[in-house]
Amino acid sequence: MDYRELAQKAISAKSKALPPYSNFHVGAALLTEDGKIYLGGNIENSSYSLTICAERVAVFKAISEGERNFKAIAVAGDDSDYCPPCGACRQVLNDLCGDIDVILVNGESELIIKKLSVLLPLAFNVKHLKK
Ligand code: THU
Repeated sequence: MDYRELAQKAISAKSKALPPYSNFHVGAALLTEDGKIYLGGNIENSSYSLTICAERVAVFKAISEGERNFKAIAVAGDDSDYCPPCGACRQVLNDLCGDIDVILVNGESELIIKKLSVLLPLAFNVKHLKK
C-alpha cells in the first residue's frame, strides 16, 4: 500500500468523526503488515476527558479484531496544518503497534513521514515493568 493512498483513507475517515464540542475532525488509517486498513475518527464526550482520539479508535478496532502486526498509521486533521498525534496516542501506538511509520497529512495533502520512535523517544514500555 502506497502511503499516499493511506493518507487519502485518513482524510476520508474524518467524515465519520464525532467531535460536537471542538468541531475538530481527525481521521486515522492504520495499515497492518498484511495490507489491511483500519479507520478511526475522534469521538468526543460531554464529559470532555472521555473523548478518544482518531488514532486510538483505529488501533483498538484493529487489536480487537485480532491484528497484532502493523506497518504505518496516517493521520489527517481538520486544518491546513499537520495534525501530529497527541502524547497519549504516541504511547498507545508504541505499546500496541511498535515502531511504525507515522504519516502526517496536511490540508494540501502533503505528507511528513516519521518513525514513531522519533516522535516518542525514550518511551516507557513493558520492558520497564518490574517482573
Ligand atoms: N485529536 C485526535 O483525534 N488525535 C490527535 O492526535 C489530536 C487530537 C482530537 C481529540 C479531540 O476530539 C480533538 O482532536 C481536539 O483536541
